Amino acid sequence: MSPQPVILITGASAGIGAATARLFAQKGCRVVLAARRMARLQALAEDIRLQGGQALPVETDMSQLEDVQALARAALEQYGQVDVLFNNAGFGRLDWLENLDPLKDVQGQIQVNLTGMIWLTQALLPHMIARRSGHVINMASVAGMVATPTYTVYAATKFAVRGFSEALRREVGIHGIRVSGIYPGGVDTEFAEVAGIHRTTKIYTPRFMNLSAEQVAQAVWRLARRPRRMLVIPWTLRVAGWANLVMPGVLDWAIERLFVAPERRQKSAQ
Ligand SMILES: NC(=O)c1ccc[n+]([C@@H]2O[C@H](COP(=O)([O-])OP(=O)(O)OC[C@H]3O[C@@H](n4cnc5c(N)ncnc54)[C@H](OP(=O)(O)O)[C@@H]3O)[C@@H](O)[C@H]2O)c1
Repeated sequence: MSPQPVILITGASAGIGAATARLFAQKGCRVVLAARRMARLQALAEDIRLQGGQALPVETDMSQLEDVQALARAALEQYGQVDVLFNNAGFGRLDWLENLDPLKDVQGQIQVNLTGMIWLTQALLPHMIARRSGHVINMASVAGMVATPTYTVYAATKFAVRGFSEALRREVGIHGIRVSGIYPGGVDTEFAEVAGIHRTTKIYTPRFMNLSAEQVAQAVWRLARRPRRMLVIPWTLRVAGWANLVMPGVLDWAIERLFVAPERRQKSAQ
């Protein structure tokens, strides 16, 4: 990376994005912070400046093309370069497909998790190609390797992020641009709150099994220092991806019996 590299982070108002912004600023990077909640971005930018760093907050709704293009322009006007693009903004609405709102939940997830990511990458790519450098880090999820019930639309977006990242990597490598996908398991952020996860069995993944946003930020830092095609964290989750490929029938059977049947049974008993 160049001295005082610039990283543009979407979804920087909370969770993984905010933790990544703090870490990269501490490491001497200039950070462009994008999200809809401007008050949060401003507070984060102020904190970073108080620590001697540089930050540019840009109010952005990733589902709006004009906002996304204005974000790319603002970053380039302010700092003249973007070395790392961390396409992180995203959300899940995790429920049975028939319960999802067609616009807010279905179209909304596709627009933010996927379309916005593609638009922003398109907007910055000519700049990266001209400089013959740049690193695009796309936030996928373990749900982009193994799709489970109630994650239909979310998993669809994250599988698509994987396809987008892999094709793009092969397309732009020749210009000196690196592309990575990051696939975390559960992370303790506001994600679960937004997702509205509701289990009729009251059985949830214990929180102690989750990563912290700071752990993911550290992984993003390592990835920026040493680009890789794909980073699964924790690495043990690679087993899940492998099982999904090698014995999908066993997974179908186990998921149906251990998750879907008890959940549906409880619901119909209510
Ligand atoms: N938490 C997990 O278990 C987990 C696991 C694997 C992958 N991930 C992925 O990690 C990424 C970050 O999630 P998180 O866990 O940090 O969740 P989070 O704390 O809820 O943060 C989500 C971020 O995305 C932003 N965002 C949502 N909709 C947006 C929109 N329309 N325009 C612009 N920004 C928008 C939010 O900002 P505003 O609301 O201010 O706009 C917020 O900054 C997501 O892509 C998520 O899918 C999360």
